[in-house]
Amino acid sequence: MGSPFSQFREMRRNMKNNKIQVALLGLGTVGTGVYKVFENQKTEMLPKLGVELEISKILVRNLEKAAAKVSDPSILTNNWKEIAEDETIDIVIEVMGGMEPARTYILEALKSGKNVVTANKDLIASDGRVLMDAAKESGKDFLFEAAVAGGIPIIRPLKQCLAGNCISEVVGIVNGTTNFILTKMTEENMEFGDALALATELGYAEADPTADIEGLDAARKVAIIASIAFNSRVTFDDVYTEGITKITARDIRYAKEMGCHIKLLGMARNTEGGIEVSVHPMLINSRHPLASVNDSFNAVFVHGDAVGDTMFYGRGAGELPTASAIVGDVFDVVRNMKYGCTGRISCTCYKELPMKKMDDVVSRYFMRMQVEDRPGVLASVTSVFGNNVVSIEQFIQKRKEGELAEIVVITEEVVERNFNDAVKILQTMDMIKEISAVIRVY
Ligand code: NAP
Ligand code: HSE
Repeated sequence: MGSPFSQFREMRRNMKNNKIQVALLGLGTVGTGVYKVFENQKTEMLPKLGVELEISKILVRNLEKAAAKVSDPSILTNNWKEIAEDETIDIVIEVMGGMEPARTYILEALKSGKNVVTANKDLIASDGRVLMDAAKESGKDFLFEAAVAGGIPIIRPLKQCLAGNCISEVVGIVNGTTNFILTKMTEENMEFGDALALATELGYAEADPTADIEGLDAARKVAIIASIAFNSRVTFDDVYTEGITKITARDIRYAKEMGCHIKLLGMARNTEGGIEVSVHPMLINSRHPLASVNDSFNAVFVHGDAVGDTMFYGRGAGELPTASAIVGDVFDVVRNMKYGCTGRISCTCYKELPMKKMDDVVSRYFMRMQVEDRPGVLASVTSVFGNNVVSIEQFIQKRKEGELAEIVVITEEVVERNFNDAVKILQTMDMIKEISAVIRVY
């Protein structure tokens, strides 16, 4: 690596030739999309940016498999050093995914004076600070718009367009697979297992769908969004996470009867008591704009003190939508290079706000249970709630089956610790045969 001045001279020389060389790491779903969008934009680049961009190297594991996807297989390599040590490459796009070797390659690229664009939410949600510090140190761009909600612009709007706001809440549907499953359960009364099987058949869910259905993928996105929205580092480990595997068609039907949908929501709130970050299924009023976000679409709802409510909607994943965000980042890097101002917007976490414990979070709850059908049972249940400072908003007996009655309770806003204490007691009572569902209400 040369001095910053020799790097700058080199960059200007590359730009003078009207060609910027780009390396792509990974040629899977997103990498292939990036390659295609580069092809589609070939004739637009010069008028748009004043330079042309060329993918001059692609790192893959299996050269033979990748050869069928590109017009010139000679640009394929399985040797990272060929890219790291190539001084003509100014921009590296990392779309291999996973923690290692992606982390090492990104750090090496930044150290050797290359700008980096990535979609790697796993890495940013846990190690974002290290990567952004490295970018700052090198004075290079490190952009990751595609890491949250795929094709939907959300990171740049939060960092730039909405920078004049204090953001108090970001709530989003940020996982397409689970939104598809919940939509099928809502619209076609499918049970979870059948809807998951359909999502797998149609290619929405991965062979191992754990990260999606257990909420882990959404939690990574929420950590990244919260860090940016509240200017304070939040990591994946900070996010309380529950998936959708326990949601049944009956929960969804009852929610509908109450004028609500059930969605997997990623929640980030900046409150006086600290930052709250969580991912879990929630009942949400059907009139809320997020309730009508269906199928595999994503949406992110942001509340700022100046702007009020805004919502960003679109495709949160997939080959071309994700590539759209990546190529947008690459074009931004090029514009920055042109004016010699790379590294202009680096890490925006200048605060160290406390995280709020989930026990202290306030929420409303929907609860469904099977109880003995005899006098005094409802009085006993309500007294447990009352003794634990849980106020009830609605109490409905839904049906009877033999000796059992099904009751549904909706609470007022309660402190999670108090609600959990009440549930623990209810679980020990003989008259309560099953607590079938506990779902928060937005
Ligand atoms: P993918 O289809 O599994 O592709 C990954 C690619 O990287 C494959 O070509 C793989 O090669 C290659 N690769 C993995 N490790 C490598 C290594 N050590 N050296 C060289 N090549 C390596 O994954 P993807 O869906 O495109 O996702 C890529 C990234 O984008 C991930 O960080 C993901 O979280 C993120 N993302 C994806 C989406 C989406 O819709 N898919 C949306 C937003 C963000 P082999 O095929 O030979 O294994
Ligand atoms: N698996 C994710 C989803 C896409 O279903 O939304 C990658 O972020």
